[in-house]
Amino acid sequence: MKVINKLVIANWKMNPQSKKEAEIIFKNIFNNLKNIKKTEVIICPPFPFLFVKGKVKTKNIKLGSQDVFYEKEGSYTGEVSASMLRDFSVEYVLVGHSERRAIGDTNEIVNKKILAILKSKMNPIFCVGESVRDTNGFYLSFIKQQIIEGLVNVNKPQVKNMVIAYEPIWAIGSSADREATPAEFTEIRIFIKKIITDLYDVKTANEVRIIYGGSVNPLNAESFIKEGRADGLLVGRDSLNPKKFSAIINLVK
Ligand code: 13P
Repeated sequence: MKVINKLVIANWKMNPQSKKEAEIIFKNIFNNLKNIKKTEVIICPPFPFLFVKGKVKTKNIKLGSQDVFYEKEGSYTGEVSASMLRDFSVEYVLVGHSERRAIGDTNEIVNKKILAILKSKMNPIFCVGESVRDTNGFYLSFIKQQIIEGLVNVNKPQVKNMVIAYEPIWAIGSSADREATPAEFTEIRIFIKKIITDLYDVKTANEVRIIYGGSVNPLNAESFIKEGRADGLLVGRDSLNPKKFSAIINLVK
């Protein structure tokens, strides 16, 4: 079976506020990473700070983007195309993050973005997750619909290169209701594998990397990997703190 490297992804969101700070955070993360070989670290800065990696020579850290537009080129003021990102050495693109869905990205838009990312030979980090865990299990059908509609026209070889990030909205950010448990992640990981098996096959389901995001920190990171058997972690707040982010990377290693 193919060896699957663990992923640790930094989603800086709309932070920090200056290029100087962005450079410092990146450099400090890089300096703490010298011995990491088997973990893939991916930094997703805001668009204006995608340059940060350019100055640092490293294969350990890959560049990700937080979003992309699905059209190829043309009159789309304010948008950024997949080829522009690829030309900037971006290898991964977050898509369907709940914070983008909250401002208008529908499952159909997410699907168009996934197809554009794949066409430009980058890897989508496809985010799914419910806003509440109701006792009737409606959150399961909600997640299933996000996945089925997000993967329209995505073929088997393409889906193998995708990362699916389970990020329950109720566990994200400083105003989160509570932290998710590794058992809650495990339930969804198995559920996603079942959906991928039904849509494609079991081999494909085993190769898709399924990661966890939502208030990941140095205290809970290991449990999501060990008990939850996550293929990686998607980190928000703590990815802006090089000490904490490096600690998370070391725990995953
Ligand atoms: P926090 O780690 O700040 O909860 O953010 C999670 C997230 O949204 C990562 O994409």
